Amino acid sequence: MEWFDVAYPEVIELRRKLYPSRDHYHLVASSVTERGWLDAVPGDRPAMVVAEGLTPYLAADEGPKLFSRLVSHLASGELVCDAYSDLGLKLVRLSPPFRATGAELHWAINDPRVLEQAVPGLRLVEETRPTSPNTLPA
Ligand SMILES: C[S@@+](CC[C@H](N)C(=O)[O-])C[C@H]1O[C@@H](n2cnc3c(N)ncnc32)[C@H](O)[C@@H]1O
Repeated sequence: MEWFDVAYPEVIELRRKLYPSRDHYHLVASSVTERGWLDAVPGDRPAMVVAEGLTPYLAADEGPKLFSRLVSHLASGELVCDAYSDLGLKLVRLSPPFRATGAELHWAINDPRVLEQAVPGLRLVEETRPTSPNTLPA
């Protein structure tokens, strides 16, 4: 298996300092919204794409474009991502720890089924909300 971490160049620089280099582990210094980075990723085998904490940072029109490029490039696979609703984004923007970062949030996904319509080839397998029975403490 080959694993690719895609992040901004300054984040990749930090990762290089913190994580030992390993066989089959690739660091890709790029915005995920740039087109070139996928060229380094083999498209001929099943893939697992993990986007944790990423979607709110993307512009609302960039997110579906990115997912469409992934679906076109990869032979098959699964995408796991988290997302905030509009209300969720508003609440995060109000939180002092987040405000201290100066980061900006853009893309809210209120219903993941909208993504199925926006991205041909993407199929919703499962959605888990904070209020779903399997995410509430027992
Ligand atoms: C909440 S953190 C999630 C961290 C991530 N799960 C990890 O393991 O590094 C959000 C991350 O998304 C990155 N990010 C935001 N927009 C990006 C973009 N267009 N391209 C690449 N990384 C981006 C930020 O630099 C930050 O590292």
